[in-house]
Amino acid sequence: MKTKLQFPENFIWGAATSSYQIEGAWNEDGKGESIWDRFSHTPGKIRNGDNGDFADDHYHRFQDDVDLMKSMGLKAYRFSISWPRILPRGRGEINNKGIDFYSRLVDALLEAGVTPFATLYHWDLPQVLFEEGGWPVRSTAEAFVEYTDVITRILGDRVKNWMTHNEPAVVANLGYLIGEHAPGIQNDMQSAIKSAHHLLLSHGWSVPVIRRNSPGSEVGIVLNFGHNPVASPSVADRQVMVEQDTIWARIYLESLAGRQYPADLEKVMLKRGLPSLEELKLILPGDMESIATPIDFIGANYYSRRIVRSKEVPEEENLPQTLFPAPENEENYTEMGWEIYPEGLLRVLGRLHFEYQFPKIYVTENGASYSDGPDQDGKVRDERRTRYLREHFREAHRAIEAGIPLAGYFVWSLLDNFEWAHGYAQRFGIVWVDFETQQRIVKDSGHWYKDVIKANGVE
Ligand code: FCB
Repeated sequence: MKTKLQFPENFIWGAATSSYQIEGAWNEDGKGESIWDRFSHTPGKIRNGDNGDFADDHYHRFQDDVDLMKSMGLKAYRFSISWPRILPRGRGEINNKGIDFYSRLVDALLEAGVTPFATLYHWDLPQVLFEEGGWPVRSTAEAFVEYTDVITRILGDRVKNWMTHNEPAVVANLGYLIGEHAPGIQNDMQSAIKSAHHLLLSHGWSVPVIRRNSPGSEVGIVLNFGHNPVASPSVADRQVMVEQDTIWARIYLESLAGRQYPADLEKVMLKRGLPSLEELKLILPGDMESIATPIDFIGANYYSRRIVRSKEVPEEENLPQTLFPAPENEENYTEMGWEIYPEGLLRVLGRLHFEYQFPKIYVTENGASYSDGPDQDGKVRDERRTRYLREHFREAHRAIEAGIPLAGYFVWSLLDNFEWAHGYAQRFGIVWVDFETQQRIVKDSGHWYKDVIKANGVE
């Protein structure tokens, strides 16, 4: 491969997955039920009635999957741990078979020379904890610390890179406002905000626990970012942008950076007729300090741009001053309907560094959904995915050149898998999975990625 853009020597090239999306074995070996088991078993929630009962059967095939990672030369693998596999009732009784599974996975990764990056929570809350109130109640954050303690005591000697949460904004907002994700509650802004606080609190409380149980490890949290500019200079567009940014990003960024919650949060709550934060008695003394416990890195998941347009402003009025007309070219969208906008990655990384100065940044997810499957000759020619990745890698390189401390990049996803509300209809893998036979085929993008990793650069 001709490489023009060389990455720093220790740059970490990896791929990512999550427990519910790949493991299957939903009720095996003592695993408890999660809110995603319950949600996906509820008719009408998931496209085609799909669920994660079998998914990629990774629970039984993890060794083959680790072999695949090795064959692609992956330096690191980001996976998540299923809380109800470890503590079937959310707290208390420990399921040793669940612990054994992750222990064997970690050993296999180390044996293969692939560095494990473990996420503690990628959305599969034990169902019993939801029944006790879920993330809107404080006791769930306390239970999370117990879970963290149990699993990091066991894996802490071998796993040295920990992420507490994946995309807490999605947990709060898709779970309680939009309702597209488990537990599927709609229009409950109060619960969404309470969830955000308890997710953040559970993160902050867990950081010292992880440091104690896993000496010398690095700890961070993963947030999701779009690049979301306003469509026009109108006041209405700007207002919507600020509101969305508050709910989706700044609650997390500001509090993690030790700046409290943004003042705009109170405005959003007021506008919806909610009690103030003080009236809610949500934040107890010491909470904000805990949330701001220093971390070693921030993880950014980036996929797309979404231009923010206020519904209140008639489209015609917006037009003369529109900064970003909606791109009409279908090629600019992946099959998720997400716009491809590589430069947005640079913008997001720039924001994290220049506005918040996190000491280290990883791209913890980036990738594209295309359904290309095997041709007659068994090859998966997914050029569009390769192009997507190449363009984003180039932006990552620009970020490094600009002095942003980007230390690694995890492609979403290693495998085609259960894409939440979309079921198996959306395929993000660099490895094809036949969900009937569980056969895996490394796609052309996966072969290309192998070359990138080998050359430590991109053309
Ligand atoms: C992210 C999720 C991940 C995957 C991708 C496409 O929001 O973290 O599990 O579904 O989107």
